[in-house]
Amino acid sequence: MTGGRELVMVSNRLPVDRVVNEDGSTSWRTSPGGLVTAVEPIVEQLGCLWVGWAGSADERVDPFEIGSMRLAPVELSEEDVELYYEGFSNGTLWPLYHDVIAQPEYHREWWDRYRQVNRRFAERVAQEAAEDAIVWVHDYQLQLVPALLRQLRPDLTIAFFLHIPFPPSRLFAQLPWRKRIVEGLLGADVIGFQQVTDAVAFRMTAERFTRAPALGNTVVVPATADRPSRTVLAQEFPISIDAAAFAAVAERPEVRRRAQEIREELGNPKTLMLGIDRLDYTKGIRHRLKAYNELLADGEIDAADIVFVQVATPSRERVEAYRQLRDEVEVTVGRINGEHGAIGRAPLVYLHRGYQRDEMVALYLAADVLLVTPLRDGMNLVAKEYAACRVDEQGVLVLSEFAGAADELRDALLVNPHDIEGLKAAIVRAAHMPKEEQRRRMHSLRRAVHHNDVSHWAAGYLGAVQAAAESRQVGPSG
Ligand code: ADP
Ligand code: F6P
Repeated sequence: MTGGRELVMVSNRLPVDRVVNEDGSTSWRTSPGGLVTAVEPIVEQLGCLWVGWAGSADERVDPFEIGSMRLAPVELSEEDVELYYEGFSNGTLWPLYHDVIAQPEYHREWWDRYRQVNRRFAERVAQEAAEDAIVWVHDYQLQLVPALLRQLRPDLTIAFFLHIPFPPSRLFAQLPWRKRIVEGLLGADVIGFQQVTDAVAFRMTAERFTRAPALGNTVVVPATADRPSRTVLAQEFPISIDAAAFAAVAERPEVRRRAQEIREELGNPKTLMLGIDRLDYTKGIRHRLKAYNELLADGEIDAADIVFVQVATPSRERVEAYRQLRDEVEVTVGRINGEHGAIGRAPLVYLHRGYQRDEMVALYLAADVLLVTPLRDGMNLVAKEYAACRVDEQGVLVLSEFAGAADELRDALLVNPHDIEGLKAAIVRAAHMPKEEQRRRMHSLRRAVHHNDVSHWAAGYLGAVQAAAESRQVGPSG
């Protein structure tokens, strides 16, 4: 898929985070989020050099290897973490790119540090990458890297993939450094997006702020005194999962037994409802809890019949909006259980921690209903994982129309999470859905996930990148 060229992955976090255990020893743990879930199976197969941060501040970590990956850690100081990662990446870009659900903050010192850290990543890649390598830069934390890298190493083919939405031009326009970000991205040969709407928004934005005209699914970067014009492919490539690997785990007898055990431990409810999300304000957890609380209060569902398990993975815990969210969610959980629970019976089980893959699959198998109700989400792989795991073709997916996954998973019960009455109606419908309708819908969801699985996604995206690499060898276009 890379035509014999070295593949270099670049992301803010390495696929593994370094953790210090209670006894002072250190170990590696899979990093949170969909980026790693999607990309790991590809690099396991292809091998790569991966440049990224090891997850703790002020720590120098030597390069190391895991399987076919060579990992090259980039050091971030405490101040880098505060200004570049928590500040500009997660206090400015994250809310801006997610429909300003939270208010983005614009601070010049955050931007300055974002530029500095992006330069550090670009320099590290420039040092490490082999001649003519393919460099694949990931996500919003590193949008300046493509242009910086092109200056440092013109021999490289540069691909960028945005795992989160790209905002409409009228929102992106708020960003004081909007032109610089677009110019940074246009340093790539191929820019991949999750949805067609993201790719269209980017092409319009590029035209508006850099006067680079859009032509079909490309953007033409005009010639300058010292450079010919270039064509950048800016297109959607919806990300996916290794569906067969998830299904294989779901077939394992001990995982199926564990699913049964989970139901028993929860008191064998008629309906087990599940939510699995990073504890992030984009995921619509507050709306979901409000709907559940009202259903219990109205008596539309009986607390004796249902248990809702909400797994909320710890995330970005020092960013103010995340702290507030955690406080609010935890107060609400207490209130719901206080009002609707009984001795030995809690209608809401809240779990603030990470799990191994087997346990996640057992949870998917145990759940009659999965609630995926983000207010905005680039894709949402949890929805795809649920479908991949339901080899029994049972279970109901309630899915927000604002998740990228809704483009493909049309036979989910699609909801607008802002419409609490609509959300309540979908929950009730899901809890009572006849088995035959579950089967028909789940069959269609599984077909969609298996059709566009991670290898289909990688073949499409890397195919486009390889074509770009080959046309560079022939000579610059335009
Ligand atoms: P995001 O990238 O915003 O976190 P996604 O739904 O696309 O959202 O991806 C989340 C990924 O993280 C999925 O692969 C999911 O299985 C995994 N994940 C989420 N929560 C947990 C958890 N508590 N423990 C282990 N894996 C988790
Ligand atoms: O998938 C979106 C994403 O932001 C990734 O870029 C990131 O690695 C993951 O979610 C988890 O976020 P963080 O690295 O901030 O913990």
